[in-house]
Amino acid sequence: MERRSFLKSAAALAATPALATLAKPLAAETQSALAPTPHRFPQGFIWGTATASYQVEGAVHEDGRGPSIWDTFSHTPGKITNGDTGDVADDFYHRYPQDIALMQRLGCKGFRFSSAWPRIFPEGTGTPNPKGVDFYKRLVDALRAAGIEPYCTLYHWDLPQALEDKGGWPNRDTATAFADYVHYTVGQLSDRISNWMTINEFGSYIDGGYGSPWGAPGRTLSRRDLAQTKHYAVLGHGLAVQAIRAVAPRAQVGLAEDVSGFMPAVEDEAHIHAAQVALREENAAYTTVVLEGRYTEKYLRHLGADAPHFTPEELKIISSPLDFWGLNCYTTQEVVPADSADGYLVVPRPATYPHMASEWLFVAPPALYWTPKLMTSLWNLKKIYITENGCSSADVLRRDGPNGEGRVLDSDRVQYLRSYLENLQRAAADGIPVAGYFLWSLLDNYEWSSGYSLRFGINYVDYKTQQRTPKLSSDYYRQVIANNAVI
Ligand code: FCB
Repeated sequence: MERRSFLKSAAALAATPALATLAKPLAAETQSALAPTPHRFPQGFIWGTATASYQVEGAVHEDGRGPSIWDTFSHTPGKITNGDTGDVADDFYHRYPQDIALMQRLGCKGFRFSSAWPRIFPEGTGTPNPKGVDFYKRLVDALRAAGIEPYCTLYHWDLPQALEDKGGWPNRDTATAFADYVHYTVGQLSDRISNWMTINEFGSYIDGGYGSPWGAPGRTLSRRDLAQTKHYAVLGHGLAVQAIRAVAPRAQVGLAEDVSGFMPAVEDEAHIHAAQVALREENAAYTTVVLEGRYTEKYLRHLGADAPHFTPEELKIISSPLDFWGLNCYTTQEVVPADSADGYLVVPRPATYPHMASEWLFVAPPALYWTPKLMTSLWNLKKIYITENGCSSADVLRRDGPNGEGRVLDSDRVQYLRSYLENLQRAAADGIPVAGYFLWSLLDNYEWSSGYSLRFGINYVDYKTQQRTPKLSSDYYRQVIANNAVI
């Protein structure tokens, strides 16, 4: 008998009345003997969800918002799966009160969102648009009224188109314009928001948007120009940190970075050392320079004549001290020691390595243990938030709930979350200073070049009606939050 047909007939047997009696509740003492030791998180751990402006807000022409590079890019034929745009997205701009109710249903204590630069400065610089700021005031007031702490990212890739027209991130002026926008925005909102992240994922929008046709603005620069652009991106971050400190001295400041994760393929000293060296070198362009204030020798040597121009003063700005490190963490890659100048080899993933609906999202739960652990040992971090973790699944809305209602039984996402959270709990138990976790994402949303074809939410969105349906993973996450433990 095939394994699958065997399972089917076992399920049929279980449904017969005689066997059903076997399913009576376990005696209390048996239950507690079977109950696993709960994997608890530290007290005061911040459980939250994460979103970003262009992916959820919609309302792209409303209240004076200017166009961003993602409006231009998504409206360019052939760039996005199914030609999807963020014009409406989740209509979060209007529906945020109901989405805050979803956060309350989960028991969330924090919410990570981003402010859209083109809402606040429609032209990127110059005269601010008060209506843009008002939206974030309304949103944050509603979050606070619901007992949810706001965590605001100041740049999640929606550069005002006007600035791209002046050269975009390859132009150093964009970094200073960013700091000006940050100074103004934080000044307007720091009475309501204490936790700020400057930039989301340098690599995704610089390598993705200026080094490949993947994302906005879709330019492919030379190696030299790309290296210089990376430098301006981290410079923009550093200038923004200083701008926040100047206007809100008590603010908590960090960023949200998709550090390329590495883990020892085998847990012994040699492998752990190799993974640590790999982590530092492979993240030299962004994380390492932000945390150390220097580019590694290997990075500069490798680029040779294409290495970026920089001054000691710029390196100081780039490495301005942070209050926390925000880690976007979805996957990791195994490392083994090697008898080479590098001393390590990043193991190429075998073709059978499992991944979720997104092809890049390889399932590697120890990412949430090893990345915080190795980063802490390398850079003595004092506070880490997991600012993103989650997954895309082939979610199906079924009309078979207990009362005939729609439901989404995303059991694979539940498995993904459980196994990743077990690893995060292991990090906490080891004394790694992980202080919070923001699940990506509260809602299905606009997944950049994949449009609406990939669903990352723990709440399903019917894009025709904008109806939200909590998925099974919402129920799971609610239990995790209620117990402050992996269950
Ligand atoms: C991250 C992005 C976020 C979302 C997730 C799936 O790289 O920061 O906006 O698209 O991936």
